[in-house]
Amino acid sequence: MGGINVIEIEIVPDHESASARVAGFIVEQIRRKPASVLGLATGGTPERTYELLVEKVDAGHLSFSQATTFNLDEYVGLRPDHPQSYHAYMRSRLFGATDFDAERTHLPKGTADELSDAGGQYEALIAEAGGIDLQLLGLGANGHIGFNEPGATEGSRTRVVDLTEETIAANSRFFDSPEDVPRRALTMGIATILEAREIVLIATGESKAEAVERALRGPVTPQMPASFLQQHPSVTFVLDEAAASLLDKRA
Ligand code: PGA
Repeated sequence: MGGINVIEIEIVPDHESASARVAGFIVEQIRRKPASVLGLATGGTPERTYELLVEKVDAGHLSFSQATTFNLDEYVGLRPDHPQSYHAYMRSRLFGATDFDAERTHLPKGTADELSDAGGQYEALIAEAGGIDLQLLGLGANGHIGFNEPGATEGSRTRVVDLTEETIAANSRFFDSPEDVPRRALTMGIATILEAREIVLIATGESKAEAVERALRGPVTPQMPASFLQQHPSVTFVLDEAAASLLDKRA
């Protein structure tokens, strides 16, 4: 598929300024088109971005009342009211703290009776909404986007995946013990993500530096799922100095 495009890179001093910059992308998108379809991410990295958005809504400078959202992923087996589910994360950090219409906020259903159908149903909902205008992404230290772990193919769509030991270990900080971390997740696929009209990836901290370098400068390969973003025409990486530290700035 497609040629190689140039990914925009914005390097800012620290996590706070990266969060402010990414919040700015979302604010601009909603001001331009209040009924935007946003693709959203969880994890530690976007937490501050969401706090800044909540502050803007509280101050009366922003409204999400017409927006629709689709999250990237959810753990298999965690009910929406489980405190570590991504449903709960989004409710507490963003949806429940702002004026989103709950009917228009979507996450994959990790407790669906028929998990094999849940992916196709999620894709159909995204298509019905008109596709994603702006997709926010984090980046795993192993290069995953959503829960597309190394090995994920370019044509992959929303489906059940096995999490790698590295991801389970990284996410165990949110659980009482590593044994409590679900082993599987439902995630948008690489093809689903690449259909978004615009993509913004936020990565901060030294632990992401190697993945950032390989995603931007390495070959496009399933071994580095974020490298597929090189094939998308409108991607921006917002990085702090630490996450950008392995990039050759002259390139
Ligand atoms: P983190 O996760 O923000 O918690 O580092 C990012 C990701 O795994 O996508």
